Amino acid sequence: MRRATITGWGKCVPPAVLSNSDFEALMDTSDEWITTRTGIKERRITHVENSDMAVVASAHALAAAGLSDEDIDTLIVATCTPDRIIPSAATFVQEKLGLPNAACYDINAACSGFVYGIHLANSLIATGASKRVLLAGSEKLSTLIDIEDRSTAVLFGDGAGAVVLEAAEGDDGVLASNMGSDGKLSKLLTAPGIGSEEDVPVDEAGRVYMDGREVFRNAVVQMGEAALQAVSDAGLELGDVDLLIPHQANVRIIDATARRMNLPPEKVFLNIASYGNTSAATIPIALTEALEEGRIKPGDNIVFVAFGGGLTWAAATLRWGDRTTPLRTSDAELPPNDRSAVELLMKRQKTRLRGTAE
Ligand code: ACO
Repeated sequence: MRRATITGWGKCVPPAVLSNSDFEALMDTSDEWITTRTGIKERRITHVENSDMAVVASAHALAAAGLSDEDIDTLIVATCTPDRIIPSAATFVQEKLGLPNAACYDINAACSGFVYGIHLANSLIATGASKRVLLAGSEKLSTLIDIEDRSTAVLFGDGAGAVVLEAAEGDDGVLASNMGSDGKLSKLLTAPGIGSEEDVPVDEAGRVYMDGREVFRNAVVQMGEAALQAVSDAGLELGDVDLLIPHQANVRIIDATARRMNLPPEKVFLNIASYGNTSAATIPIALTEALEEGRIKPGDNIVFVAFGGGLTWAAATLRWGDRTTPLRTSDAELPPNDRSAVELLMKRQKTRLRGTAE
């Protein structure tokens, strides 16, 4: 059966850095608490829209694949923070990037969205419904941050990553993938008052709520299960896994998943310290950095695994192809920014409060 392989990759991380010490000045927290409980040291706060970050990441992914915008027939943006409800973030990306031959749509599986997208793109390519898929994971989670809530504010950041998937010619590509969800647990992680739901109390609208302990408990179980399933469905042993690229939500969740998979630390990619949880963007950003750092070699077996609001989870096992360097590079970048991360965050906080007061 035909399968999809990743031929291009790229990332976009906005320049404004929000450090743990910035949070110490904003709320009752400490670098020590955030670092030991989450592994996060800093995160990025965007000065542009979600789709602008997705455009830059996608331009890099297209160049890395040696393709032009006209070659793409499907654009999927995995996001839970689209610029607007209508139209999709994907159509904004199309407006800004071109992609004249692409059907464009978003998928929302919160932090699992990118791995859901891998499963979907592989199915589209396997059936012949698509030939070349551009898949972006892009988030502007700073829009949901409430600096009054220290238990969630310190976790999230903004950013985007993207990959191009095409039909594999060799034995590389997506070997196995799975997705799951449990809607009974939807209230554990939610952002009310942004969709069509009525009668949301104004003080609850437009911000993220999370039962951290319960999400943590479920994440450890489901990420382990999903990853083990994806390895076994690929016909591999755990010892065959060369690199785990997990969703970067909490270093303790990642450690527990790696232990469950019996993987030593050098087989686990971590960049949570630099970016925090960028939801659907964490894995494509991490994949791009793993390639940039020479952590992926031709023929490596790579596992993606993610977990997020829904609750949702997903995993995929891929065998990497021959090429670990881009075919071309792109000079796409975000416009300059002259505001600090704290200024950007405070503006977002004021806008949110004004919105809920109306
Ligand atoms: N600074 C200092 N203290 C804090 C902070 C903070 N930023 N946040 C919470 N605390 C306090 C709490 O108030 C609590 O104090 P108390 O004991 O006096 O009540 C104490 O720290 C411990 O709180 P816990 O919630 O038990 O801390 P925990 O060790 O569980 O860590 C965390 C919290 C980091 C949120 C963790 O539960 C977690 O990572 N959960 C999973 C998050 C996740 O994976 N999300 C994934 C999906 S995201 C998506 O889909 C968009």
